[in-house]
Formats: sequence, C-alpha cells, structure tokens
Amino acid sequence: MNVQSWKKILLIILSFISIFGLFILFIIPDHFSKVSISHSSSLPSSSSLSLIDEADQQRRVSRKITSSLGKIEAGLAKSRALIIKKSGANRTVDDHDEDYVPSGSVYWNPDLFHRSYLVMEKELKIYVYEEGNLPVFHDAPCDGILGMEGIFINDMEISRFRTRDPDEAHLFFLPFSIVSIVHYVFERETRLWSDMKNTVIDYVNVIAEKYPYWNRSRGADHFMLACHDWGPEISSAIPTLYKNSIRALCNANTSEGFNLTRDVSIPEIYLPHGTTKGLLGGPSPSKRTTLVFFSGGVHGYIREVLLDHWENKTEDGVKIQKYLSKGEDYYDEVRKSKYCICASGWEVASPRMVEALYMGCVPVLIKDHYAKPFNDILDWRKFSIDIGLENIPNLKTILMRISQRKYIRLQRNGVQVRKHFVVNLPPKRYDVFHMILHSIWLRRLNTRIHDPHQP
Ligand SMILES: *[C@@H]1O[C@H](CO)[C@@H](O)[C@H](O)[C@H]1NC(C)=O
Ligand SMILES: *[C@@H]1O[C@H](CO)[C@@H](O)[C@H](O)[C@H]1NC(C)=O
Ligand SMILES: *[C@@H]1O[C@H](CO)[C@@H](O)[C@H](O)[C@H]1NC(C)=O
Ligand SMILES: *[C@@H]1O[C@H](CO)[C@@H](O)[C@H](O)[C@H]1NC(C)=O
Ligand SMILES: *[C@@H]1O[C@H](CO)[C@@H](O)[C@H](O)[C@H]1NC(C)=O
Repeated sequence: MNVQSWKKILLIILSFISIFGLFILFIIPDHFSKVSISHSSSLPSSSSLSLIDEADQQRRVSRKITSSLGKIEAGLAKSRALIIKKSGANRTVDDHDEDYVPSGSVYWNPDLFHRSYLVMEKELKIYVYEEGNLPVFHDAPCDGILGMEGIFINDMEISRFRTRDPDEAHLFFLPFSIVSIVHYVFERETRLWSDMKNTVIDYVNVIAEKYPYWNRSRGADHFMLACHDWGPEISSAIPTLYKNSIRALCNANTSEGFNLTRDVSIPEIYLPHGTTKGLLGGPSPSKRTTLVFFSGGVHGYIREVLLDHWENKTEDGVKIQKYLSKGEDYYDEVRKSKYCICASGWEVASPRMVEALYMGCVPVLIKDHYAKPFNDILDWRKFSIDIGLENIPNLKTILMRISQRKYIRLQRNGVQVRKHFVVNLPPKRYDVFHMILHSIWLRRLNTRIHDPHQP
C-alpha cells in the first residue's frame, strides 16, 4: 500500500475515534469498558449531529443562539482532536509544565490525562447562574464531612474558569447546595421532602424561563454538585436533570441511578477546621506498626459484617474496634497503620478514603456499588486494595499475603496521587477542585449538543 492510502486509513481511524468519544482512549478498567462501549454504541443519533453538512452549517450560523452553540461545539471538537492527536506523539513544547507532569502507573494514560488537563486549562469556560438568594444558593458550610459542597461553590464563584458570558460557556453550573437546602428548607416536623424538591424544581424553572440554555440542551451541558446523602434523591425531582445533566456526587452509588458515563464521583473530604493544615503526611512504611486499622460506628450492613468478625481482635497488628479508648487519637492511629479500612457506612462514600491517602495509609475499600472518584484517570488498583463483602473473614490473610515490596509500591503511589485529593484555598493546579472540573470536562467532551429547535 502506498503512503497516500495509509494516510487515508489513519484519517478514517482518527475521525472514528473522535466520533466515539474520549472514553475509549482512557484505557478503562473492566467494569468501565462495558459502560463506555454502551455509551459509544448509543451515540449514533448524537454523533451524526456532529457531522453536520455544509448547507446545514449555513442555516445554523443565521441564528444567534445556534451560532453560539455551533462555535462551542466546534471548539470542543478541536479540543478532542488536540487531545487525541498529540497523545501518541512525542511531547511538544506546549506540554511544558513547571508544576507537575503526570507519569507512572497510577494513571491509566498519563500523557492523555496531561493533554486533556492542559487543554481544559486553556479552553474551559463555565457559566454560574447568578439567580438564587443566599443562604440556600451560592453558599454552604466548608467544614464538616460534607464540606466539599461549600468549598466547590466558593471556589467556583472566584474561579478563572468562570465566564460572565453564557454564550461562550461549555458548561452551566447550578449553584445550589443540598446541605443548605436541607438546613434551611427541610420541614423537620413533617419530614416531607416536597419543599426541598420544589426548591430545586423552581430554580430550574426560573433559569429555563429566563435563558435559552437549559431548553437548548435539555440540561445536558448543566451540572450540579452534592455531597449530602440526599443529593441523588433531590436531583430526581427533575427528570431532565436526573437523566441528562452531569451530577457530581459524593454518594456515587451505581445501584441508585449513578451513571458512570455521565455523572462524576467526587471524594468526600473531612476537614475538621476547614483546611488541610496538620492532615497531610505521615511516617514512612517502616515506622508503621499496625497492620490494619478501623474505628467507627456500626452504620449500615457492611460495617455490621466487619465488626461482627473483627471487633476487638487485636492479634498480629489488627486494630478494629468501634470507638477509640480515651487518650487515643484517630489520626495518630491512621498514621501508625499500613492499611486503613474504608468501609461504607449509611452511604457508599466516606471521608476515610481521603484521610488514609492524606496520611500515607493504604486504603482498603470495602464497598458495594461504589464508583471511585477520578476512576477514568487513576488506576485505583495501584494505590488501594478492594475487598469484597464476602472476603471480610479473610481480611487479615489477604493483607498478610501482600509482599513488603508490593505494599511499599502501593504506599508510594498513594503519596503520589495525594495531590489530586488535596483541598487548597485558593485552589492549585491538579488539586481536588481541578480534578473534579477535569472529570466534568471529560463528560462534556463526550457529549454533543444539538439545538432541538433548529432544523
Ligand atoms: C520521538 O522522539 C524520538 C527521540 O528523540 C525519535 O527517535 C522519534 O522518531 C520521535 N517520534 C516521533 C513520532 O516524532
Ligand atoms: C423552556 O421550556 C419551558 C417548558 O416547555 C417553557 O416554559 C419556557 O418558556 C422555555 N424557555 C424559553 C427561554 O423559551
Ligand atoms: C448513562 O448515560 C448515557 C449518556 O447519557 C446513556 O446513554 C445511558 O443510557 C445511561 N445509562 C443508564 C444505565 O441509564
Ligand atoms: C470491644 O471492646 C469495647 C471496649 O472495651 C467493649 O465495650 C465492647 O463490648 C467489646 N466488643 C466485643 C465484641 O468484645
Ligand atoms: C447502594 O444502593 C443500593 C440500592 O438502593 C442499596 O441497597 C445500598 O444499601 C446502597 N449502598 C449503601 C452503602 O448505602
């Protein structure tokens, strides 16, 4: 075959890849690949929209909203091509990054991640709706275990990704906080959810009435963020939000409607004093004397099994108990341990996972139906252990069987990925705020929006 036909084949392959979205390119773990393929195969209707013919293109530019959407979609197509094209090739000058260059086995594909991160920094624009009054909208507490809601809302308000011009936005943020809605709107006497749900319904009605953007995409380029357990249920009050929008959730339970291709799992992070001061770092592996540590209440069925088997059994460095005794400090125990159990409680997410990573303890996840944060970028197998419910009785044997070499690798990798979970005020590159945005950016890159009111 001559060079010309090779080029043609390459071109066809490239456009094929760009049509079927980026997900395939992020080498995706087992359960993920299934989802991404079904996502791709469900694309025909929308992917055909990206192949708008010339005449159609002409018609589109004549309408203002459409033309702004056309520009946005063309820009996103360029971003996709840029990310994909450069990924296999040698690093170029604009890959230069004085802060950090992702590398190593903790990433499924470090080059591709780096590229899409840099393109995000260059291109991404988010419009934050200004409607909605304090304190229910635009604010939430930044401390406590649900602090990510407040932290994200506040970061977003001052973010460099924010645009005041909705016509140039790739994404639209709905700035409500479930924590604030529960705090200010929930009727504690009647325990009815209707007021909370109506708050969100009214909000979406207002912005759908006032602006063309919600109707244009049926919510698909809009996103919300919730750490509160009730986030998923409250979001279900609006079918289009639930089905089309990107929901960034701590409570990422795949058995409760969390959609791996569209929704974003965010870490639950507990900052007792609103900052990470005193939480980051811990002794080296050789100084860790406890094999495995857990302390917590019997919340939910997983912990019941765990404590049934292991409570107070202190042999061989196992320290699993409900509550610590007087004088013992939770964080000190984490720092002394090689492995830290992060078991789901009432809900799938728990702040223990990030606590362990912050303090250099290898997380042992005992969770069902949990979508791990940043799973399409990070290979969690390289810095954590998954233990199925049925394997709880074998917990000690499983951990003892891990060689010292492998443990040290897991621990080091955990220290390496820590930066992606750190909360900075204000945010810094590659930290948790940027990782959340990057996950949302990937979802947006995988969506093509066509204005239903245009021919
Ligand atoms: C990448 O760089 C190496 C070493 O500089 C060179 O040998 C190789 O041809 C380059 N590959 C491409 C695709 O440019
Ligand atoms: C969006 O659709 C809703 C429901 O169909 C309608 O009430 C509203 O006026 C529309 N918004 C705009 C800006 O046209
Ligand atoms: C998840 O979302 C994708 C993209 O919107 C959709 O095609 C798919 O059907 C959804 N999956 C489920 C199980 O709802
Ligand atoms: C574990 O120890 C605590 C504190 O000594 C005690 O209250 C609890 O009953 C013990 N649980 C079991 C199952 O032995
Ligand atoms: C996840 O969702 C399923 C289905 O609703 C539920 O049975 C399970 O308890 C949830 N997991 C947790 C830890 O709450």
